[in-house]
Amino acid sequence: MAEKTILRALKGEVLPTPPIWMMRQAGRYLPEYKATRAQAGDFLSLCYNPDLAAEVTLQPIRRYGFDAAILFADILLLPQALGADLWFVTGEGPRLSTITQQSEFDALKPASEVHETLSPIYETVKILKRELPAETTLIGFAGAPWTVATYMIAGRGTKDQGPAHALKAENRALFEAILERLTEGTIEYLSKQIEAGAEVVKLFDSWAGSLKGEDFDRYALAPAKRIIAELKARHPGIPVIAFPREAGEKYVGFAKATGADCVALDNSVAPEWAAANVQVDGCVQGNLASSHMVTGGEALVRETREIVQAFSKGPHIFNLGHGITPDADPENVQLMIDTVRGGA
Ligand code: CP3
Repeated sequence: MAEKTILRALKGEVLPTPPIWMMRQAGRYLPEYKATRAQAGDFLSLCYNPDLAAEVTLQPIRRYGFDAAILFADILLLPQALGADLWFVTGEGPRLSTITQQSEFDALKPASEVHETLSPIYETVKILKRELPAETTLIGFAGAPWTVATYMIAGRGTKDQGPAHALKAENRALFEAILERLTEGTIEYLSKQIEAGAEVVKLFDSWAGSLKGEDFDRYALAPAKRIIAELKARHPGIPVIAFPREAGEKYVGFAKATGADCVALDNSVAPEWAAANVQVDGCVQGNLASSHMVTGGEALVRETREIVQAFSKGPHIFNLGHGITPDADPENVQLMIDTVRGGA
């Protein structure tokens, strides 16, 4: 069988039609997701139930035939596996026990012990490996250390990552120790996902954009570089997608500096600019605004075509610039796919 389209794009091949998948493609905009989530009880029970997590991963593949499936899990399972308490408040988001003192850090588990908690996730990967269509690529993922640390330090999502920036200013040794533990844990976690059958892994640094100047290099770029180098040493040839969201001009050279095979772009960067400045180094992924999945219509079609056109001279994986939101209309997802594949 011919090699999967996503893997070809990640090797730098320019395809006539870009392969497509969508961040948060398994999610609350789909009625079938809501039904399975209700069956599981709550979000974390769904993540840790391999049969149901595999089921929701497969739902958008059945409905739309995306070129990739992304493992259903969450970036906050790693801090939980390191010993932090984690729960989700409906309508508000995640809550964690905070880490702002050395004594709280000292109570965390070593990175080598995360697998006990995370083994159901590896089981989900194994099920998906068996059940996915032959042409569909399976993507594993983790949060990047900085982004995960912002939740661990604040105990919740924050608009400006203030508590993490404050700890960085007040107790840099502790801040760096947290990042170090997360870096080691991420290597362990992704390595086991790859052993279980993930064919690509993606590193989500959703809050990379709030790191400026030297901080960006030390806390977004350097950990990504280390994680990627270690994964490629353990699993030669494993492709990695890095997503330093809202990195702006720091997207330039990020793939080369970190060893990533592909950089995922958010929708704050213009596709023409990204083609000239980022795609010159290799594959890019992105970057339609997820709001089009709510509003649809002519604007969706026009912008989808513009993105496909702008990236048509280099390797490209079509995606949104960030996750699809629960208020999205499933019909608009179909319209986006039809437009990319030339049917609309
Ligand atoms: O993309 C996928 O379909 C794969 C699964 C996936 C989820 N979260 C499932 C999820 C992935 C890759 C993530 C990544 C993630 N999780 C990130 C990085 C990407 C990004 O969006 O910036 C972050 C920051 C998180 C942490 C997280 N998880 C938050 C802040 C929330 C609450 C916000 C919300 O939308 O409610 C979650 C919950 C979450 N993770 C949901 C899903 C489908 C919604 C949970 C539900 O069903 O109620």
